[in-house]
Amino acid sequence: MTGTPEQSLDPRWGTRDPTHDPYLLAHFTPRADDVLITTAPKAGTTWMQNILHQLRSGGDPEFKTIDQVVPWLELPRNHLSHEQVLAQYEAMPSPRLFKTHCTYEQTPGTDTVRIIMSSRDPRDCMVSFYHHVMDMTDEARAYTGYDAMKNFDDVFDSWMKHGAWFRNIKSWWPHKNDSNVLWFRYEDMKEDIDPVIEQILEFLGWQLNHEQIKQVKKYISFEWMKAHSNKFTENTEGRSFFKPGGFIRKGQVGDHKSKLSPEQESLILEKAHTELEPDCLAFLGL
Ligand code: A3P
Repeated sequence: MTGTPEQSLDPRWGTRDPTHDPYLLAHFTPRADDVLITTAPKAGTTWMQNILHQLRSGGDPEFKTIDQVVPWLELPRNHLSHEQVLAQYEAMPSPRLFKTHCTYEQTPGTDTVRIIMSSRDPRDCMVSFYHHVMDMTDEARAYTGYDAMKNFDDVFDSWMKHGAWFRNIKSWWPHKNDSNVLWFRYEDMKEDIDPVIEQILEFLGWQLNHEQIKQVKKYISFEWMKAHSNKFTENTEGRSFFKPGGFIRKGQVGDHKSKLSPEQESLILEKAHTELEPDCLAFLGL
């Protein structure tokens, strides 16, 4: 084999960018009791990370950052070598929790680990992504290349072209009923979180008492997360990619109505109808 370690990787792991390190995916060792949260960006990933951390701990308001307790599996960690990142993953006690935005094909251990999916209306994901970009610090926007996007239309065009939402849903849909996959819609989570908690506990075989569930519900509420937003925006070195008040933003269903033009909304829906199966569209309510 020739070239850098990354050049010799199986292409299934994808190509490197500021939020995707294929080397980590290729060398990660899955465990049977690992839980991977998989989502398209802006579909409630951080909420699900916190839900799972709180359920695993029985209620913990003291954690420093969500990235420390539920790391983003494929995120490049530029201050660490690959071996150091993988050693940190190995040192985590079971059951480990990870976040990923990978497609099914890029996800390691799909036949071994438990997977919890959160999906969200693509129109709301798009508008949430616009605010995500605008709420980033200048340094973070330059690092990710997002500084090229100056206004809503730029972000819309880039979101459509990049197509992460469509790719993610399309790749996971055939696995929705796999025995190790549990899929929630953000809209249903917003309507009633109780059945979500019950289903996750049953799926993972975890047990909590009434008082613990009460605590968990407090710490996963939008209000608590917004009031403690630094826990969700800072990385493990205490640096934030977001301006104060950004990221845990509004948390509402249908927020796209305030931003998308009718033409832009049609473009999203047309692409969804071209790429996704009818039963998938029906499930998503599109
Ligand atoms: P909005 O930008 O629409 O407010 P992700 O973590 O995948 O990037 O998703 C971020 C979205 O989830 C943001 O949506 C954020 O406000 C919302 N969110 C975060 N915590 C939430 C909570 N506890 N309840 C509801 N929505 C939440």
